[in-house]
Amino acid sequence: MPEDEKPIDEQRRKFLKVVGVMIIGAGLAGTLRSVVQYVIPPTSNVESSFPTLLLLLPNGNPVHTSDLTVNNPSVVTFDYPLQNEPNFLLRLGDSTNNDVKIESTTVDIPATGGKYQSPAGVGPYGSVVSSSAICQHLGCIPPELRFHPPSATDFPGKIHCDCHGSTYDPYKGFSVVTGPTKAPLPGIVLSYDQTNDTYSATMLVGPTIYGRSSDLSGGNPISSAGTTVTTLGV
Ligand code: FES
Repeated sequence: MPEDEKPIDEQRRKFLKVVGVMIIGAGLAGTLRSVVQYVIPPTSNVESSFPTLLLLLPNGNPVHTSDLTVNNPSVVTFDYPLQNEPNFLLRLGDSTNNDVKIESTTVDIPATGGKYQSPAGVGPYGSVVSSSAICQHLGCIPPELRFHPPSATDFPGKIHCDCHGSTYDPYKGFSVVTGPTKAPLPGIVLSYDQTNDTYSATMLVGPTIYGRSSDLSGGNPISSAGTTVTTLGV
């Protein structure tokens, strides 16, 4: 019997069968796409190199040394290298709040047995340092993760995470002091412009940031030439 002479019901059945196969196919393709994206994260939004971003105050002016308090108990952060990725900005001092010059040091990565060289402090006293403010255990951020000044009763001179108790030493390249973290906080390489007394973030060093396959993938780039420093009172 020619196709156009077949009973309507049979034609409808064939049509529904084709539609059903298409729907299942589309579903499988979607699932497959999700799996592929999980295994191989999307590469859109991947920066090809670390940006150099001037650190700015909320009013748009550059951060100067006098804007940074030695051993500031408040949490001062800026996003880098991508949006919504907080980093500490610390001006470190001793127990009487005199600037401490921070030397570059070899930092261990307990998770891998690897090592890397931390950035030295910058600024007129070599006391300004920066690191990721994303805990390398399970990703807690400030205020749970925060710096305790040397005069503090709890965790003096350390960065402590209230989520599960990890502790890091910002005076020694943000190295691991106590777990459960098995990785130090990645360091931000800062540059200091002596002529203008300004600071820029130029690069990240250390272990891969928690939750991402690479330091520059899986997020949104910061489109401006600067990144704004914000202060969170704790
Ligand atoms: S997330 Fe920081 S210790 Fe677990």
